[in-house]
Amino acid sequence: MCNQYNIKNVFNTMKPLNEITIGIANDHAGFEMKNFLMEQLKNKVKDILNFGTNTGESVDYPDFAHPLAIAVEKGECDFGIAICGTANGITMTVNKHQGIRGAVCWEPEIAKLSREHNNANIAGLPARFISYEKALEIVKVFLTTDFEGGRHARRIEKINIF
Ligand code: RB5
Repeated sequence: MCNQYNIKNVFNTMKPLNEITIGIANDHAGFEMKNFLMEQLKNKVKDILNFGTNTGESVDYPDFAHPLAIAVEKGECDFGIAICGTANGITMTVNKHQGIRGAVCWEPEIAKLSREHNNANIAGLPARFISYEKALEIVKVFLTTDFEGGRHARRIEKINIF
């Protein structure tokens, strides 16, 4: 006997990893982690759009975060990865865009829940607080976990209504 509480409403909208295009943006605190992730992911995903920055010279994260957010909103990227020292500034910036649900992800489980419950489309990584290995685990989970829908769909619809 099924009822609304034991039916898992999985959308099954996830593309296979090798069909996903990701966008990645970062400030000076995140450029080395970005390079590591791009190297690890380049043969696993379809394409990676790099929005910079590409050096350790001090920059302002919104200059790189907004172009990433626009590309994700337009559907040019399936998902985004946004990296700064804490993940806070760059995630705050992408979340100014109506179509973006950016989640600060510091553990793989947080990344998983940000997809399952929040349908997050940009993962914010705190480069100064997590290892490269953890960042890669987070990204892998984020890119391969589907949104659960159901009650969570109603909740994320309400995010833009106030
Ligand atoms: C840069 O020093 C730092 O402020 C930035 O990477 C980020 O942590 C801001 O939220």
